[in-house]
Amino acid sequence: MKLVIIRAAELIRMAIEKVDPDFNDWGKLFLQPASSEKFGHYQTNFAMAAAKSFGKPPKIVAESIIAAMPENDVIEKLEVAGPGFINVFLNTAFLGRSVKDTAVSKWNFSHINTAGDVVIDYSSPNIAKPMHAGHLRTTIIGDSIKRIMTYMGYHVVADNHLGDWGTQFGKLIVAYRNWLNEDNYKSDPIHELERIYIKFGEEAENFPELEDMARSEIKKVQDGDPVNMALWKEFVEITLNECKRIYKYLGIDFDTYYGESFYHGMMPEVVKELTDRKIAVESEGALVVFFDESENLHPCIIRKKDGAYLYSTSDLATVKFKAANYRMNKAIYVTDDRQEAHFKQVFRIAQIAGWGMDFVHVTFGVMSFNGIILSTRAGNTIKLEELFAEAESRAYAVVNEKNPDLPEDEKRNIAKCVGIGALKYSDLSQNRSSNIDFSWEKALSFEGNTAPYLQYTYARIRSIFRKVTENGLFFDRSARMILETELEKQIAASIVRFPECVEKAAEFYKPNLIADHLFDLAQKFSSFYNSTPILKSEHDILQSRLNLADAVARTMKTGLDLLGIEVVERM
Ligand code: ARG
Repeated sequence: MKLVIIRAAELIRMAIEKVDPDFNDWGKLFLQPASSEKFGHYQTNFAMAAAKSFGKPPKIVAESIIAAMPENDVIEKLEVAGPGFINVFLNTAFLGRSVKDTAVSKWNFSHINTAGDVVIDYSSPNIAKPMHAGHLRTTIIGDSIKRIMTYMGYHVVADNHLGDWGTQFGKLIVAYRNWLNEDNYKSDPIHELERIYIKFGEEAENFPELEDMARSEIKKVQDGDPVNMALWKEFVEITLNECKRIYKYLGIDFDTYYGESFYHGMMPEVVKELTDRKIAVESEGALVVFFDESENLHPCIIRKKDGAYLYSTSDLATVKFKAANYRMNKAIYVTDDRQEAHFKQVFRIAQIAGWGMDFVHVTFGVMSFNGIILSTRAGNTIKLEELFAEAESRAYAVVNEKNPDLPEDEKRNIAKCVGIGALKYSDLSQNRSSNIDFSWEKALSFEGNTAPYLQYTYARIRSIFRKVTENGLFFDRSARMILETELEKQIAASIVRFPECVEKAAEFYKPNLIADHLFDLAQKFSSFYNSTPILKSEHDILQSRLNLADAVARTMKTGLDLLGIEVVERM
């Protein structure tokens, strides 16, 4: 199905072509959501923007477009507003039909160039140590962007650019040789690795020479020493398996795990090419790319004096690899905003070298927990497994209070969906650039803009349908929609315009636009539910309202799925 906003714009275009068959500046024609429901559904400033080429005042241009509108069943009326805006009101019967169509056909985003591959690099933890709450935002936001773009028809490659090649492995090797408890390592490897990693940090405070030892151990790995290589592999496997367990729990998966080690062998060649082409030059023994003053970028070192490569070198190798191995539509990187300068340098160098593509750095602010900012240095990280356990037990308490009689299994499953949903939604419902503070009370509330509120909207509709069966009624999907009340019309419009918010969310990489839309729809449905009889209404009206409720539930489910959140049948 074509998006309604596209259909409306096409009709207006036909009217404009009637007014002036030679007009061709179509960039000036676009519809925007109306600022308020009383101005209809969309508004366009076309008449004002294009008045000059018509040689008439905007109001007159607007009026002639409205007069030339072709006969159609999509737009009910157009009206001129203010200095020459055109307000667009959608036809109610059309909205009704479209609501029903959403049950059987998919939205079509072919007006957007979705060809080629979109590679999204997200989560990408530095492994050898366990993941902690600081890794959550990139993981959750990246996964949502992946879901949104996949929904729109992009071919998405979810890439986990593991930090699997850094000095942390040198530290672990030193720790392993000095403090390993064999038994613990056999029975619970990840925690033993964590223990000795922390131990290394403590010991190194008093014996800084340990840091040098760690550097020489990692150097041995990089030079291919078989004993150290084997240890490195073992540590990667142990920590990566642990990460994968967490991803599985969160319902997140990746297509590729091309970590830093994967690119290691490509770096000398990348450096050579940049040097041969004089893009990088020698400066005090190091190889450096200098930028034009106008670009406001610090010089970027790509090889240190001692021959070591850097984070940027590895990312340059990554870009070159992508350019050679994919049909790139976009390369997206999801990290916190402290990496902004790094990616600007990498993108610019890639462009200079001719490996350019549509690069997007999706950044986000800091997430604190009850006002406390987590940091590994200060030692106050929260372990993810503890966070998940707390999510489930708190959600369980809430569910148990609301619905004590549900079977235990079901309560546990609801607690899991609600707990993880609350966690994800507190992140995704906010503008990603802002710093956010997480609190369980807010996240698990059934009121306000929260995951449980939206999940509850879904479950409540499912319970209506259970009652349909219990009361010996039936649900007729082929019934005609009768949108009687203002609320019903608004709900229908919101369902039909859902893909518009998905498109905007993809354009700006802002899942919160989807959250906003769902929250608004849930509120409208709640007012409808509280003010309008559904099951007690008359036959045709009953069927129409059931169809409307069904479409709300499907939209909730789809929308929450784009945020990586599951729904439950009751709660
Ligand atoms: N491993 C990095 C970190 O934990 C994030 C990597 C992001 N991706 C990239 N291609 N640099 O900060």
